[in-house]
Order: sequence, then C-alpha cells, then structure tokens
Amino acid sequence: MKRLFAVDEWKVTEEGLHPKENRLAESITSLGNGHMGMRGNFEEDYSNDTHQGFYVAGVYYPDKTRVGWWKNGYPEYFAKVLNATNVIGLRVVINGTPVDLAKWEVRDFTRELDMQRGVLTRTFTLMNGTEETKVEVVRFFSIVDKEILAIRYNVTPVNYEAKIEFTPYLDGDVVNEDSNYDEKFWLPVDRGVEERFAFVTTKTKKLDWHVTASMIADVEGARCEVLEATDLFVANKFTVNVAAGETATAYKYVSVVTNRDHEIEALQSAGMTRVEAAFEKGFETLLAEQTEAWLARWEDADVRIDGDIEAQQGIRFNIFNMYQTYTGEDSRLNIGPKGFTGEKYGGATYWDTEAYCLHFYLATAKPEVSWNLLKYRHNQLPQAKENAVKNVGMEGALYPMVTMNGEECHNEWEITHEEIHRNGAIAHAIFNYTNFTGDKSYLGQYGLEVLVEISRYWASRVNFVPHKDVYMILGVTGPNEYDNNVNNNWYTNLIAAWTLEYTQEVYNYLKDAEPARLEELVSTLGITDAELAKWADIQTKMYYPKDDLVPDVFMQQDGFMDKEQILVKDLDPKHLPLNQNWSWDRILRSNFIKQADVLQGLYTFGDRFTVEQKRANFDFYEPRTVHESSLSPCVYSIIAAEVGYEDKAVELYQRSARLDLDNYNNDTEDGLHITSMVGSWMSIVHGFAGMRIQEDNLSFSPMIPKDWNGYSFNMLWRGHHLTVTSSREQVTIKQTGGTDVTIHVYGNAVTVPANESITIETVKA
Ligand code: BGC
Repeated sequence: MKRLFAVDEWKVTEEGLHPKENRLAESITSLGNGHMGMRGNFEEDYSNDTHQGFYVAGVYYPDKTRVGWWKNGYPEYFAKVLNATNVIGLRVVINGTPVDLAKWEVRDFTRELDMQRGVLTRTFTLMNGTEETKVEVVRFFSIVDKEILAIRYNVTPVNYEAKIEFTPYLDGDVVNEDSNYDEKFWLPVDRGVEERFAFVTTKTKKLDWHVTASMIADVEGARCEVLEATDLFVANKFTVNVAAGETATAYKYVSVVTNRDHEIEALQSAGMTRVEAAFEKGFETLLAEQTEAWLARWEDADVRIDGDIEAQQGIRFNIFNMYQTYTGEDSRLNIGPKGFTGEKYGGATYWDTEAYCLHFYLATAKPEVSWNLLKYRHNQLPQAKENAVKNVGMEGALYPMVTMNGEECHNEWEITHEEIHRNGAIAHAIFNYTNFTGDKSYLGQYGLEVLVEISRYWASRVNFVPHKDVYMILGVTGPNEYDNNVNNNWYTNLIAAWTLEYTQEVYNYLKDAEPARLEELVSTLGITDAELAKWADIQTKMYYPKDDLVPDVFMQQDGFMDKEQILVKDLDPKHLPLNQNWSWDRILRSNFIKQADVLQGLYTFGDRFTVEQKRANFDFYEPRTVHESSLSPCVYSIIAAEVGYEDKAVELYQRSARLDLDNYNNDTEDGLHITSMVGSWMSIVHGFAGMRIQEDNLSFSPMIPKDWNGYSFNMLWRGHHLTVTSSREQVTIKQTGGTDVTIHVYGNAVTVPANESITIETVKA
C-alpha cells in the first residue's frame, strides 16, 4: 500500500504534488459544512487531470434513466448530486505567466486538511529560473455562517520584483462527470459585476433549482478592473506590483444561497447581504469563529486513541467528514454516500442513514438532529405510499432504496423492487431514537403513521403458506447483494416481523399515554382491529429458514446450504474483489457474502440473541464474507468484540477506520465513503466499549485492543455530557455539568454525579 497522506492526529497532509493521484487527494481534502461543500480542487488554473466538484445540499438534477433493458416500475429519473458554479476560481498571473501547477516547476507542495478547525491550506514554491515565489492558500466553508466560504491567497516573490494579477471569478458553466446523456444541467438566469463585487444566478434545466453565488474580492493596494462578463462568468482583475520579499494577499468571500432557503426573487439581495456581512467580519474573524465552532463540535464528538496514531487519524477523519456532510438543522436534507466529495451513487439517502449514521448522531449531537433524520422520512411518506402502490402493487409504504425527494431513483430490479429490508431500517430508526433519547413524543406526532404504513406494506408483501401455516417473504434481496431474488431472507423476515410487533407496541403505548392522539390517528389512518390482529398473526407465524446441517446457524435464506461451501481463505486472492473479477451469475451462484446480512440482524436486535448464538453465526458467516461493501466490517467487528474475538474485532475495525485514507478499495478518487465512515465510530463505541441502551439503562463493557494503551470518547446521553475513558487498568466515566446519572459498567450500576467522574477496574476478557 502506498500512503499518500502523512499520519498525524489532527491533520491529513499530502506532501508533494501527485498529478496521477490528484483525484484521490481531491476527495480526501474535501471541505463541507452541511449546506455545501467541495473537493480539494485548486483555486488557480490547473491543466492536469482534476475532478472539479462543488455541491450544494439538496440541489439535484433528475437525469433521465439510462438502462439497457427497461423493466416496468423502473423510475424514469435518477437524482444526481449536482456540480454547481465554480466558486473558488482565482486565476493568478505572475509577470505575465499564468500560474498552473501542471506547468510550473513546483517545490515543497503541501495540501493540508486541518480537521480540528475545518480548514484547508496549500503551500508551495514556484520556480522560474532563479526566481522563487512562495504561495499559501487557505480556505474554509464556515460552519457558523453556512452560506459562506472564504479564501486567502498569499503570493510572495521571494527574490525578485513581480507584477501579480489576481482574477477572482465565478463560473456557472460547469459539467457533471456523472451525467447519463452528457448534458449540461444549468441555465443562466442573471449575473452582475462591478468593482470588488459580482454574482451569478443559475437554475437547473429541470425542477428550477436556483443558486446564486456572490463574491466580494479584495487585494490590498491593487488596481481593480471589471472584466467582461458572459452569461455564466463574472470576474474582477486586481493588478499589484510586489517588491522582493513582500506578500500580496487576495481575499475572496463567497456566499451561496438557493431557493431551498430563500424566495427566488430574494436570492440576489440575500446573497449580497450575506457576503457583505462576511466581508465586514473579515477573514481572520471568520477563521477564529470557524475554529471555535469546530472545537466545540469536537467537545461532543471526539474519540481519542492512545497508542495508535494511525487509528487516531482514521477515526477523526471519519467523524470530521460526518459533520462536514450533515449537521442536522434541516429535515429536508440527508446524508449522501459521497456527501460533498463526489458524484457517484447520485441520490442522497440510502438505508445507510437509519441503519448506520443515526447511531452516531444520536450519541454525539442534540436529539433534534436525529429527530430531523426521522422527520425526513415522515416528510416523504406520501411518495413512499405511492411507490408501494404504483410501482410494486402493494399496500402501505415502501421507502425507496435510493432517493433525493422521496421518489425511488434506483433502477436495478433486484434492488429497487427486492431489497425491501430498507423499510425495516426506517421503522427501527424510530425505535432507536426513542430508546436512546427517552423522548417518546415522536411516536404520536409522526412515528405511528410511518410504522402503520410500513406494517401495511409488510402485511401485503408476505405470502401465507396454508399447508405449513407460516408466512413467507419470497423474491427478495437481503443486505447481502451477492444473492438476489431469494426466498425468505432471514434478516428481512426478522425485521418485517419486528416492525409489526413494534407498531402494535407503539399503538398500545399511545392508547395509554396519548389516547386522544391515538383516536385521531386511528381515524385518519383507518386502523382496524382486524388489521392489528392480522399483523399479530403474521408476526407469530413468520417463517425463518433453517438447515439441519448447521443447526446453530440462522440460515441467510432458503437453500443457502445447497450452494457449494467455500471459504474466502481458500479462494485464490486473484479473484478478489469478486465484483471486479467475476461475472454476476458466478457471484450469485457462490456462497460468498458481500456484507453483513444475518449478522446485521444479530447487531440490530442484539438483545434478542445470546452470545453463543452470535458466536456460532459469526463463526459460520465471517469466513464466507468478502466485505465488498464498506458497510460490512464494522458490524462484524462489533459482534466479534461482543463474543470475545478481540483480534478479529480489531482487524475488522481497521478495515473501516482507514478505508479512504489508505484507499483500501481503490475507489476513493470517486469520493469518500461517507455513510460507512460512521462504522469505525460504531466499532469503537458499540464494539470495543460495548455501549448499549436498554429500557432506560446506559451500559458499557469496555475491552481494549491489544496494540492500544487506551481510548476515550465524548458523548451526549439524555442531557448528560459524558467522557468514557478506557485503559488497560481502569474505566473512567466523567460527566461535565449535568445531574446524577446512573450507568451500568460490566453489569454493575454506578452513579456519576455532576462534574465528577467514577473509576472502575477494567475487566479482562
Ligand atoms: C451496499 C448497500 C448500500 C449502498 C450505499 C452498496 O454497495 O450494498 O447496502 O446501501 O452501497 O452505501
């Protein structure tokens, strides 16, 4: 493995320019603030390979579907994450020669991501004969003023006098790399330019998304000219003479506002007001605010690892990117698998959000953030109902596999129509929210509506088999996408039955706690006693596949043991990854498993299975799993930690912790694996620290990977700000502020008073 980035606790630094790996470096050095974000592109011209990408949350394009063989029910459009106006552009010309790192002799290049402060800095030296020029570029996307980004560009001609021209510009003439018909997606709407100020408004060819980018630029002591604009391009040019050893500094402040947050008519003035306010504050103040806000965020979310700096960098990189992508103020937004770092996968929302990301936000942010993730699905209930009825001929609601606005946009029948377990994850998120926060108000307000419609879907999707007196679910794809169109995927059947049971439980709860609200819901949703009875019948008579060959193992699906049983270790490594080397039919016929499936069930419903059951299933499935989804290793790692397989737990943790930093899957150039980043956090907190919440009890049973001296993480639980520190000798739980809180450690209840800590001896496995 070739490592491009230096290992450091808080920084990720590319040392030296790597033109061949530029896309990888651009992905890794992406910046974002939940509202917008971009790849680590250069401000100045660059004529070598680059993937220009600047994305605005929730602004997308419905690209016409392109498939070889159309099937009924396929969506007509695939929602694309949309590359928007180039907002960072800043052309630099030194004594008549444009700066282009592909053409100049470049020395001492660094591109450095500071995760502690959310800042990207590039430094380099340009050589032209003996003339030496030092450059430092700093930029950040403010997490305080979300519509603002700021750039400071310093040029120092070290040993000669230079005439320097800076041309800050906005360019709306951009393309998507991911476009089905090589179309451009934007149209010009309006633009304006004067000295030190310019704006461009563009709108998408479909759906009328309007985006206004406005800039104020300044270079001290420079002459400013207004350059001729085109429909999509506006620029100023600043010219300044700089003495040897002096520094010329260009500042560029940009606001990006959209009709998601403003009236279309108000965009121009909103953009101008925002950018003027940023300019008034000035770069240093904005930067100081940015630093303070990121430090505060780390107070709630940091994980520290003592004794393994690579692991430390990995977990911080992942946490940093989760918060760059989603901050949870807006229930119309969600967490795309690539966030703001690339276009692949389109869409914004997969089951990844509920099955994975939610756990992280529950424990590191205020409950409102998770509430908004849940509310997002409630907002989209009408489309999910339409999807069930129109596309798959069922009742109730089927949430899409991939979506932006609630409509399905994925078009592979085995996933779109068959990977229906996703519905269960959405129901289970409601349970997780309520279980973690103790706040039951979501259930009556929105939860039951979603649960009832999902239950209706399951009730219409099951198949009653009279001669066996069981319900089955036929023709599905489980989480393991290397098996399609199977009958009775154990995990799907389990989560379907669980949804029916939980819906009844919530119904009963509301009957006591909010009878008037329940009555209202019963009437608007038309819930009948017969329907509830039917759900109970399905739940109790759900069929789960078994095989006498391996009686202790939950069978992933009917017929799994009829496949030739081969272990990954016995496979010639040249076949791996299977998805790049094998034909699809060969993958489907094999027993190899892409990602956690039965294990996903054991993790999701951990309290319903014994440690012995978990161990038996781990022993059977892990050797058959190729982990070709980045969502996979963390689930196995958590179960491994629970059943006492320490080495395995650590090995699997490592796979998810540095997946992108070390480019394990050789695809990080397309963007980061945002939704699975949370997996490394889950491996530490749910896995190594054994955090569980059950019936209002928060519990831990920490173990320590043998190469680490210890680890520590911050979390929020029901208004308590906790720091859990685990070393070889002791476990300490500290509370900052708060009131007395009772926690179970290794099964024993301990009380942690406000602003105090308690210490317990570590129990060795
Ligand atoms: C996985 C899915 C996941 C998707 C997006 C696929 O490779 O199999 O489970 O939802 O990636 O992360």
